Order: sequence, then structure tokens, then C-alpha cells
Amino acid sequence: MTNNPAPQKFVVTTPLYYVNDVPHIGSAYTTLAADALIRWQRLQGNSALLITGTDEHGQKIERTAISKDLAPQEHCDQIVVSFKSLWEQLNIQYDRFSRTTASEHKVIVDQFFERVWEKGDIYLDQQQGWYCVACEEFKEERELTEDKHCQIHTNKKAEWRDEENYFFRLSKYQKQLEAIYADNPEFIQPVARRNEVLNFVAQGLQDFSISRVNLDWGFPISQDPKHTIYVWFDALLGYLTALLEPDQEANLELALSQGWPIDLHLIGKDILRFHAVYWPAMLLSAELPIPKRVFGHGFLTKDGLKMGKSLGNTLNPFELLDKYGSDAVRYYFLRAIEFGKDGDFNESRFVDLLNADLAKNLGNLLNRTLGMLNKYCQGNGPQLKQEDYPDHDSLKTIGSNLGSQVAIAYQDLQFKQACEAILELANASNKYIDDHAPWVLFKEGKQEEIEHVLYAVLESIRLAAYLLSPIVPNLSNAIYQQLGFSCNFNELTQLSAAPVFAQHSRWGHLPANLNLNKARPVFTQLELSSVVSDS
Ligand code: MSP
Repeated sequence: MTNNPAPQKFVVTTPLYYVNDVPHIGSAYTTLAADALIRWQRLQGNSALLITGTDEHGQKIERTAISKDLAPQEHCDQIVVSFKSLWEQLNIQYDRFSRTTASEHKVIVDQFFERVWEKGDIYLDQQQGWYCVACEEFKEERELTEDKHCQIHTNKKAEWRDEENYFFRLSKYQKQLEAIYADNPEFIQPVARRNEVLNFVAQGLQDFSISRVNLDWGFPISQDPKHTIYVWFDALLGYLTALLEPDQEANLELALSQGWPIDLHLIGKDILRFHAVYWPAMLLSAELPIPKRVFGHGFLTKDGLKMGKSLGNTLNPFELLDKYGSDAVRYYFLRAIEFGKDGDFNESRFVDLLNADLAKNLGNLLNRTLGMLNKYCQGNGPQLKQEDYPDHDSLKTIGSNLGSQVAIAYQDLQFKQACEAILELANASNKYIDDHAPWVLFKEGKQEEIEHVLYAVLESIRLAAYLLSPIVPNLSNAIYQQLGFSCNFNELTQLSAAPVFAQHSRWGHLPANLNLNKARPVFTQLELSSVVSDS
């Protein structure tokens, strides 16, 4: 008997979000992209794991709790509720929610720290420098403005620190890291971010401090408990803790055996250095394999301006979801912005794009086609099959290549390109109807030709809905339901066997004699009311 190894899981992480405040649109952005990717994996029949969670230690959180007159843990517990609620409203299907204050995380951090300690990569020294509490990071002079503000948090002054800290020997790993970047050009994506990292590393890596004194809100270092572990050292290890099954014994080896190395860390560009330089070095020190890919997406602006509380122009994800629903929000951010580049939110553009693509191009198309089917074919599904279409048929041509084209786009995190390619099929379908004019064919009594046209269009709508389902699962469900299918894209287990995927992702899958359901608008036209903002 052969022993089959357990099937490989595709593991994706979002950052573990700071709980200094309720979640903002930036956290929602990373998470919805990760969710779309995980859904894509599951759609293909692959086993996949989505890890998200919260980063709860450090000075920033401690100060926020104090300002609210709460114990830090109590404060964290409250904010975690709003993260979980946002993920529910955004239709995020996460598997693990890793909290850095969890007791099992402490065990993982201790065991990992011990390895690095034993390796001789940790030493005590004096740390002097400017610390940005909002970034939880020491900044070099050249990274600060003249009046010592950090470039990301321009409203917060960096603080001077002069204290004894434990340091991690990052400099020791310079050569090894450079070799990893050279041997694995795919490790840091997109290319612009990779270049940023290469430039940073080329300037020469300096050891960084990994402990704090005068800060209680963190795990004490077992070897010297007056120090607490630096929040970033602790937080990155949250990815490892998350691999443990719920209620499983907390043990580093066990966690590592369940999905390490991670396939993809999805992050924003501001935390690239931690993930692409510090984290791999920490792992090298612990003699562990490094993650396979780190992708740094761009920053969102609103109406062309940087978002910020002090600027009074933040975008409240809860409010946006209340007004427009999860599919609309998911679609806009993945369709309107090239993933990896900075992108803008503008509410009238949001409404226009959703209406053009989903209400009109795809939704009306379905409605219109089902209406014609009722009128010209008494509602019966056409009898034709894919083989009946010549190879030069425009919908067959586009549809036949679409599955593989979209697969590559999802694989490369090119959500915008995936949406564009799919919408092109809907566009072509609208044109197909106009070109073939079933209403004229009806007058000419060409019943078979009408069916031929309507089948091709319905099949194209089905394929578009299928391929868009990682992004707009509810809309895809509504379309599939009207076409007489009973599957649910929010319950991918029903769909996730690979052979099923192969059939559904192929143009020509729509069976003859469809059991069509009544035509109803699948995506309601949106209206621009008031601009969404944080109150
Ligand atoms: N706690 C750390 C991550 C630790 S991971 C082990 C952290 N948290 S965060 O809550 O501040 O940031 C979370 C994510 O939000 C980051 O990926 C960041 O890039 C992203 N965004 C914050 N503002 C953003 C925009 N305006 N636009 C897009 N994403 C941005 O960093």
C-alpha cells in the first residue's frame, strides 16, 4: 500500500491588523483580495487556508487602551469584535483568526525566540534613535521630515529613545538574503516592490532591536523578563501560530508541519521591509524555510487625496457596505485598481463602474436574454450543444480561451485584468445579440437560429458568472440560480472537486433543456446618494 501524503494546502495570509482602532478600508482591501484568491483556489478543487487576525501588543495599543481607560486586553477584545463583524459583512471566508495575545501564541514566540537565542543571534546593546509609535518602528534620520515626523504618519512626531534593548543580528544575513532574492525572483512581487527591497538591502543591513524596556504590554522575554518582545517580532510569528488547528497543543514543530512555508503573504507596501527582509532573516536564523511569495499592494486614496483621520477624509468600510453591499465593494476595489499599484476611491466612479459592468453589461444581458427566451421559445432552454458552433463563432472563440486566461490572471493576482477579460465576454454577448437580432429571426420564422444565438449568450453569461464568483459570489449565485443550477459559491465544498471545475470553466458547459428560473434583476442599479466618510 502506498502512503499518500496529505494534499497540499494553499496558504494565504493577510497582515495581522493593529487593534488601535476599528478596521479601516486599507485592512478591508488586503482582506478582500486574499479572500478572492482563496475562493479561486477552492473553486479549482484545491485545499486552501486563509489566515487573518490581529496584532495586539506594543506601545500603540497600550496607549490607546490607556486613553480609553481600559485594560489593554479589554480594549483588544472589543476591537476584535469589529474586525470579525467587518469580515462577515464583506463575505470573507477566513479559516484562522490569529490573535497575538492568545496563550498558544506565547508558546510559539518563546520556542522561536529560544532557537534564535541559541543560535547566538540575539545580543544586548544600547538603542538610540527616533521611534515612530504609529509604525512601531525605529526610523533613520533620512526617513524623517525636518521636524522629525515620519513620512507615513505626518501628524505624529517620532520619539527619541535611548535604552538598553536586545538586538537581532540582521546584518549577519545580508549575503544569504541577497542570494535568496537572486535565486527566487518571484519571492517579492510586484517587480517595483522587489526593486525597493533590493535597494534597501544593498545599502547594508543593520541589526535591529527586538525588545523593549518600560513597556508592559507584550510578552516578557523568558531569558530576561524586564524586557518585553518587540511587537513586530511577536506579530510575524502570529502567522506560524495560526497554522495550529483550534485547540491543538501549542508547539512550534506541530505548527510548522501544517502548512509551512506559507504560499503567500499579502500585505500593503508600507510593511514590505518587515516581511521581505526582517522576517526571512528571522526564519533563516531559526533554520526554517522562508515563505514562497510576498506581494505588496498599493495604497488607497480618496478622491485623489491621502486618507487620514486628521485630514477628515477616511472611508468607512462599514458604511460603504451598508449602502452598497459586499459584492459591490469587493468588485470595485479589485476591478478598478490594478493590484500592486496605488488606487483611488471615488464614489461617483464607484457607482458608474458597478452600474456599467454588473447592472448593465452582465445583469441586463441576462434579463434581456431570458426575456427573449420566454417570448420566442416559450421559456424552454435551447437544445443546442457546443459542438454545433463553428470555431469562428465569436462567443465560442472568446469563451474557449477565457478559463485559462483568467486562471493566469488570478494566479498572478491580476484581479483587474481577470475582470476585464470576463467583462469582454459579456460585452461581446451584447454585441452578438444586436448583430444576430433574434427579433428579426423571429419574424423570419428561424426558430433554430434564435435558439442558437440565445444558447451562446446564456452560456457566456454562465461562464462569466462562474469566473467572477471569487470576487462577486452573491451575484454569481443569483445568475447560476436563474440558469437553473443549484450550486452555491459561498459553499465551495459543493463545487470544489477538480473535475467539476474543469467542466464549469469551459465554454459549452450549459446543458440542453435548462430548467430556467424566472428572470429577476440580479444586480440592482446603484444610485449615488451622499459621500461616504467617517463621522
Ligand atoms: N500590525 C501590522 C502588521 C503585522 S503583520 C504580522 C500592521 N497593521 S495595520 O493595521 O497598520 O496595517 C494593515 C494593512 O493595512 C497593511 O497592509 C497596510 O498596508 C494596509 N493599509 C493601511 N492603510 C492603507 C491604505 N490607505 N491603502 C491600502 N492599504 C493600506 O501594519
